[in-house]
Amino acid sequence: MTQLPPPFPTSRFRRMRSKPTLRRLMRESILSVDDLIWPVFVMEGEDAETPVPSMPGVLRLTVDRVAKAALEAQSLGIPAICLFPYTGLEDRTEECALAWDPNNLTNRSIRAIKDAAPDIAIMTDIALDPYNINGHDGFVVGDEIANDETVEALVKMALAQADAGADILGPSDMMDGRIGAIRTALESAGHQNVTILSYAAKYASAFYGPFRDAVGASGALKGDKNTYQMDPGNSDEALRLVARDLNEGADMVMVKPGMPYLDIARRVKDEFGVPTYAFQVSGEYAMMNAAAANGWLDREKVMLESLLAFKRAGCDGILTYFAPTVARILDE
Ligand code: PBG
Repeated sequence: MTQLPPPFPTSRFRRMRSKPTLRRLMRESILSVDDLIWPVFVMEGEDAETPVPSMPGVLRLTVDRVAKAALEAQSLGIPAICLFPYTGLEDRTEECALAWDPNNLTNRSIRAIKDAAPDIAIMTDIALDPYNINGHDGFVVGDEIANDETVEALVKMALAQADAGADILGPSDMMDGRIGAIRTALESAGHQNVTILSYAAKYASAFYGPFRDAVGASGALKGDKNTYQMDPGNSDEALRLVARDLNEGADMVMVKPGMPYLDIARRVKDEFGVPTYAFQVSGEYAMMNAAAANGWLDREKVMLESLLAFKRAGCDGILTYFAPTVARILDE
């Protein structure tokens, strides 16, 4: 596809880089506010917020404040907000029944946001880890994470979120068969237009560390997630997972984490041409902010460059904790 350029000096690549106008004209990828999904942390309480120490600038918000934040995001033009509940040990059980409670934190937040900011899309997380005593995304039976029993619970969780008004369901658990089960249940419950953004290629990554602090899972998690999340050495497997989830009814697919897995995003986009997203995860956010706090990196520049890289890799959008900051910069 790439043709050899004519020899120097007929071709001088620096000609096209010599002026800002020419550089703009030939720029292939552009970051826009339309590309952003903003992950937020919700907690119990009223009119309060607490900082997440390992994610400078990120707050856990009570439901009323999350509704206000959603309204602000909507006015900045951010298309979607994604909810993650913070739960203490008192909310965690082996049965995880809070996960499908119509009045759990996520479902109350969905209704509050729909009231306050009806024009922003609401994405949710489907996995048992916020409600599980052992921090796992699925039921623990003996030494195993039980797949099929978990899928049944995830379906109930999905239906409760759809009933509350969620627009985009995000199964992040990596159980097999959950997309098909959720899609079938949505259709029979009359939720034909609820979309599924499958965390299709989610790796067992150390980059989720700060997120687990943010949602209160770090202390709870027993062992690791290697029997359900992907091995970081694999790439072909990601394509098979994406194909499988699309067949089962996913509207969109995600690669996660983001920056260390841009090669996967590119392969997915090239192979399937479907709406493809990446999650710039908590550890990526923490690294950039920590280096910036030390004066080693320019926060704004690395933020914009890292997000542009997702566009270049073929992503249609990015889940990023930087979303409101970026939206404000792009607005200027
Ligand atoms: C849990 C979930 C995780 C993230 C999103 N959903 C963590 C995990 O799998 O342990 C990570 C997000 C981030 O690190 O920013 N189902």
